[in-house]
Amino acid sequence: MKEKLQNIRNQAISLLNDVKELKALDEIRVEYLGKKGQLTQVLRGMKDLSPEERPIIGQLANEIRDEIEQKLEEVKNLLILKEQEKKLKEEVIDVTMPGRKRKTGGRHPMNLVLNEIVEIFLGMGYKIAEGPEIETDYYNFEALNIPKDHPARDEQDTFYINQEFMLRTATSPIQVRVMEKQKPPVRIICPGKVYRSDAVDATHSPVFHQIEGLVVDKNITFADLKGVLEVFAKELFGEKVNVRFRPHFFPFTEPSAEMDVSCVVCGGKGCNVCKGSGWTEILGCGMVHPNVLRMAGIDPEEYTGFAFGMGLERLAMSKYGIKDLRLFVENDIRFLKQF
Ligand code: PHE
Repeated sequence: MKEKLQNIRNQAISLLNDVKELKALDEIRVEYLGKKGQLTQVLRGMKDLSPEERPIIGQLANEIRDEIEQKLEEVKNLLILKEQEKKLKEEVIDVTMPGRKRKTGGRHPMNLVLNEIVEIFLGMGYKIAEGPEIETDYYNFEALNIPKDHPARDEQDTFYINQEFMLRTATSPIQVRVMEKQKPPVRIICPGKVYRSDAVDATHSPVFHQIEGLVVDKNITFADLKGVLEVFAKELFGEKVNVRFRPHFFPFTEPSAEMDVSCVVCGGKGCNVCKGSGWTEILGCGMVHPNVLRMAGIDPEEYTGFAFGMGLERLAMSKYGIKDLRLFVENDIRFLKQF
């Protein structure tokens, strides 16, 4: 019996010495130590031994089981280690290799300027209003006090769809639509696309963007207009910017003016961007004409108001020092990624 046990031990140990895979370990465990394993089988035969022999053989069997179990554990750990090493070798990553850069998108400069302007006016309590890009003669001209023979009605400026409908030439019709529906106080800004049949060049495009503002309430004066627009200009272009108002004419405002800001490039000294004048024109403005208020159903004896309108492309151009507005629509990444 001793011999049998020794044989089992020797066989198991030599098998374990040759094992190459973890899977084989389990088979060996079952074969020798399992319920029907060889060692267990021998131990079952112990009942036939004499009482003197029993403890000796029992001890030997236990020692052998312990030895095999220990060996199993050892080989198992060794194999796990080997497997990990192999995996690491196969999956080497060169962490010094340069990564692949992902390009992030950005906002379009026109949107940047628009958002900034909108934020400034929202901060002053204005609401945003929008309107249709296809307008009627009434809203685009008549209600804005633009008489039948006004040059703005010339075919060369306006894209007519038919006698009655046209593409709006300004965002001003939105103001009329709002005044018709809303009793004063009115405080709105109206951003949107506008259309004029101009040939494309560095400073003209048949489609461009405007943002207009309108305030109607009791006791609104030209001083309110100047105050609001000066604050606006300083918020947009910086505290150092100067503004000036020049008399102008618009059919829908009286009196009317244009507002200039000191040139953002030279600070007012005069350069090629401002053509030596030191100033850049950025918007038209004025007190809403009594006829316009009256046509929209607002009593000009009770209420007054001011309005202003500016071209976003021109504003973005002076803010960022862009010389050609075609860059805004050409989608050249080299241009766009600068913002
Ligand atoms: N509608 C004018 C334009 O398109 C701008 C403007 C708006 C002027 C409101 C005065 C008041 O040039």
